[in-house]
Amino acid sequence: MFSQISRQVAVQVARNFSTSSTNNFKVAVCGASGGIGQPLSLLLKVNPLVTDLALYDIVHTPGVAADLSHIDTASGVKGYVGAEQVAACLKGADLVVIPAGVPRKPGMTRDDLFNTNAGIVRDLASAIADNCPKALIAIITNPVNSCVPIAAEVLKSKGKYDPRRLFGVSTLDIVRARKFISDSCKVDVNTVDIPVIGGHSGVTIIPVISQCKPKVSFSQPDLEKITVRIQEAGTEVVKAKAGAGSATLSMGYAGARFAISALKALNGEKNVVECAYVESKVTEAAYFSTPLLLGKNGIEENLGLPKLNDFEKKLLDTALPELKKNINKGIEFAKK
Ligand code: NAD
Ligand code: LMR
Repeated sequence: MFSQISRQVAVQVARNFSTSSTNNFKVAVCGASGGIGQPLSLLLKVNPLVTDLALYDIVHTPGVAADLSHIDTASGVKGYVGAEQVAACLKGADLVVIPAGVPRKPGMTRDDLFNTNAGIVRDLASAIADNCPKALIAIITNPVNSCVPIAAEVLKSKGKYDPRRLFGVSTLDIVRARKFISDSCKVDVNTVDIPVIGGHSGVTIIPVISQCKPKVSFSQPDLEKITVRIQEAGTEVVKAKAGAGSATLSMGYAGARFAISALKALNGEKNVVECAYVESKVTEAAYFSTPLLLGKNGIEENLGLPKLNDFEKKLLDTALPELKKNINKGIEFAKK
């Protein structure tokens, strides 16, 4: 399906994610053959900041790489398949994006993925520590709330942890909040800027609608409805896909947005801000998503908690116990 994308669409996508720079970056995608991995890799292939795209998976990457390599953009693409090729894939990477792991089926929570995905993230983090310890790492794999602490513990155990360089990708929550608010309030989606903080599952997702720009207003029932829709949007897609997985195309888009922002910042562009789930002192949760100013070394400054109204303070109170439980589960797994 992705091989059939028209040239016009690819060019338009490239424009949407474009940048004026000429610098060169190697990006590795781990889990590149999957539902997210393929569209994400496509969007990276058509971005001029990416000159070397390394695709790793346990299956199919030679085919995905061959397909993408025919697209007439400058970046080289190479596929690496199986654990024995992971080191070659990662060597020299400036950014590693990880969508490896199983997705939800209807009736499952993200935490139900823990038993399968925790080990995948642990092993990839270990390979990153050994092969590209200075790379920025962007974890998409669920449960994000637990997978980021797992990666941090693995990197720490190898003396390679830099909290400025490890991110859980919560960008899809931002993308959804922008779209749902734009549709509800009839405002141009391109003008909508809204922080979504906390974690990436259910009640841990906290849209801070009071700080939305442009200012929007909802009746209390409508505010509650749109907040729950943003929190449960992943489940909306899982139900609609009816057993065929979870969000892939919107996540490919969101993952590319985060990756390209990180590359722009690595490239010296100023004022690059994204929300992401990182080690944090902003609340009592050891990992928490807030707006971050990105720079040449990853996080330049954590911009902290946006101003919250009483409704959002209650959302935060509800989120914290769940978030702390998810974080501890990840840390305990990694320490075993
Ligand atoms: P998928 O099953 O379509 O693809 C996953 C890919 O990972 C497959 O190609 C598989 O072969 C590969 N893989 C499995 N084990 C691997 C390993 N050890 N090393 C490298 N690759 C490996 O799933 P998907 O729909 O692409 O989702 C991937 C993950 O992303 C899921 O855990 C899902 O829950 C998560 N997700 C996160 C967000 C978010 O907002 N952070 C959004 C959507 C999905
Ligand atoms: C999402 O928010 O779409 C992802 O986390 C996938 C899921 O399981 O909901």
